[in-house]
Amino acid sequence: MARPTALFVVGTRPDAIKSAAVVQEFQRFAGQIDTVLVSTGQHREMLDQALGAFGLEADVDLGLMHHGQTLASVTSRALEGLDQVIADRAPDLVLAQGDTTTTYCAGLAAFYRQVPFGHIEAGLRTPSIWSPFPEEFNRRALGLFARLHFAPTRLAADNLLAEGAAPDSVMVTGNTGIDAVQAVARQGHGLPYADHPGRVLLLTTHRRENWGEPQLEVARAALRLVEEFEDVLLVVPMHRNPAVRTALQSVLEGKPRCTLVEPPDYVDFVQLMRRSALILTDSGGVQEEAPAFGVPVLVLRDTTERPEGVEAGTARLVGTKEESVYSSARSLLADPAALGHMAQATNPYGDGMASQRVRYAALRFLGIESPEVPPWV
Ligand code: UD1
Ligand code: UDP
Repeated sequence: MARPTALFVVGTRPDAIKSAAVVQEFQRFAGQIDTVLVSTGQHREMLDQALGAFGLEADVDLGLMHHGQTLASVTSRALEGLDQVIADRAPDLVLAQGDTTTTYCAGLAAFYRQVPFGHIEAGLRTPSIWSPFPEEFNRRALGLFARLHFAPTRLAADNLLAEGAAPDSVMVTGNTGIDAVQAVARQGHGLPYADHPGRVLLLTTHRRENWGEPQLEVARAALRLVEEFEDVLLVVPMHRNPAVRTALQSVLEGKPRCTLVEPPDYVDFVQLMRRSALILTDSGGVQEEAPAFGVPVLVLRDTTERPEGVEAGTARLVGTKEESVYSSARSLLADPAALGHMAQATNPYGDGMASQRVRYAALRFLGIESPEVPPWV
């Protein structure tokens, strides 16, 4: 009898990182299931870099990225391209993670072809459809038709159940990003900026709702921190989006102890997180990963779909106003005990076995028995 086919879709850096461990887990069961990896190419360099960290290469690459692409153009091209791939490959299950346009289109294309869709990192919610934009819409829409919802936390599962998802379609798995970060950390590369005797302050920002003035305010706050704390080196990996880079460069370029760098690949970025005393970020993935190393995070947003970190004490929501970012970070940098206290909180996002739980549930859905792992609590 022919093996069933699972078709994974990725397109952006976080899609690749959070899907990688799951794809590899499915590949371990190659005797029972065929695994196809499809890339929309919504991102180019950043996607290739992320897949490369796991030695993965897409079987099909739609190569969609344009500079200055609009949401509508990525959506229409990805939907059409993925529709054709699903028609050609006839998968039994389509899987994708998170809330990017690629993921939304993967789900929608599967829905139109009436192929079951498995949503990895399902159930994250904020109260506003406008924040994060457009991600909150994307993940809510996927929640309407996903046949399997792989919720990273209990809270995410409860969100889905409250929206009416069938209880037997919702599984709490932990976040597959924690599997990725643990696998990479085990490779044990050295920490960067070894020649800097002081602390590293890491800043990443890219969210659409922070483009322009909010990013400028954050950059000004970071500059004030570096000027005040002479032992601090600010490291800013710049997202490839030109709008983001221009804002960061206009405030920070050429300033003492401010290092603007190209996005390090995932292996190097994980080491950079470990080297950091404090992280300022609006990234979803970084919020989840940093607590794995006990590094405190100030979240540059007004709302978060990841309240678990805030409740556990590893993260604080500080918004994007210069004064708020500056004073929140300043109080921590000036008080090593407070920083240390945040650093001790435990990681609420996963135990490194999320991919195995996704594999178990997905294969069982396809009628294949495979080894189960203990639940994530
Ligand atoms: C996308 C996702 C966002 C995710 C982020 C992760 C959507 C709508 N947004 O946002 O949810 O958090 O990725 O980073 O899906 N670019 C390059 N090279 C790259 C990647 C991007 O040059 O490898 C530039 C291009 O000019 C591109 C622009 O960045 O047009 C924006 O990329 P896009 O994927 O549309 O949006 P992101 O802001 O990256
Ligand atoms: N990351 C990376 N290099 C960088 C910045 C981030 O490898 O320069 C990784 C990070 O560890 C996390 C993921 O990329 O796993 C997050 O991607 P991003 O912040 O672009 O997207 P988000 O998680 O906000 O959707």
